[in-house]
Amino acid sequence: MTQENYDPAAHYDRVTEAWGLLLGEELHWGVFSSPDEPLAQATNELTTRMISASRLSPGLRVLDVGCGSGTPARRIATEHGVEVLGITTSQVGIDAATAKTAAAGISGVTFEQRDGTDNQLPDESFDRAWVLESSHLMPDRQALVSECARVLRPGGRMALCDIIRRRDIPFAELRERREDFAVLRAGYGAARMDTLEQYAGYAESVGLVVDEVTDLTTETLPTLDKWRETSAQHRDEVISLIGKEGYDTFVISLDILEGFWRDGTLGYGLISAAKPA
Ligand SMILES: C[S@@+](CC[C@H](N)C(=O)[O-])C[C@H]1O[C@@H](n2cnc3c(N)ncnc32)[C@H](O)[C@@H]1O
Repeated sequence: MTQENYDPAAHYDRVTEAWGLLLGEELHWGVFSSPDEPLAQATNELTTRMISASRLSPGLRVLDVGCGSGTPARRIATEHGVEVLGITTSQVGIDAATAKTAAAGISGVTFEQRDGTDNQLPDESFDRAWVLESSHLMPDRQALVSECARVLRPGGRMALCDIIRRRDIPFAELRERREDFAVLRAGYGAARMDTLEQYAGYAESVGLVVDEVTDLTTETLPTLDKWRETSAQHRDEVISLIGKEGYDTFVISLDILEGFWRDGTLGYGLISAAKPA
């Protein structure tokens, strides 16, 4: 599958339900202070890191770009009194997020099908842009960050966390490890990884002032063991949702990701950047 013909919306439509079983309610990596912690506590901790990087306060309007099934959006609305618009290209994600939010009786949180790289929302209409582990799925990273900056009011802030590349990968190595990259593409979509410095560069190029850059690679590594546990636990259900090949791809990808995490190729990071008042 090439980057050109890959459709992230179709990918997420296909995997959203299985991801809920494998990754948990929050569709992202966890931040662990000890490998014994439960996965849900660690995924919750990553959201907590985003909350603190976002400097939330009641009444702010937040754009959640790549909202998944809306668990972080519901949490920030209920715990911090913010109003949230969650956007994703996946209609399955929108339906799940909307149903869960209605079932929980939460107001002030809505979801719309929109593309984070061309969101069509009015200029300066949000106080915060929140991008939790969705940027790697958007090929035009500069467009994503430009759109976030455009919709922010002066004095607003963007917080973004995601899988990152931590070193240059020479072409010869890319070729040598092409089977590993093909497995990751099949499992997670045609993601491309940027360094934290590249993310900071995108933000600065559109006038944002980057004031936090945090590498979370070590703290996120135990996530892979937790996903090994959830994949063993939910094997049959996941196979019924994404097929045996999809399941096997996920399981194999865990070893590949662990290798990349441990050898310093890939990792996890967070940046926060303010729009000058
Ligand atoms: C790994 S999930 C993260 C979900 C959520 N932020 C969470 O932490 O629970 C990635 C999300 O990004 C969404 N996504 C992928 N490409 C997108 C795009 N171009 N615009 C908006 N959302 C996108 C996917 O549909 C999915 O909801």
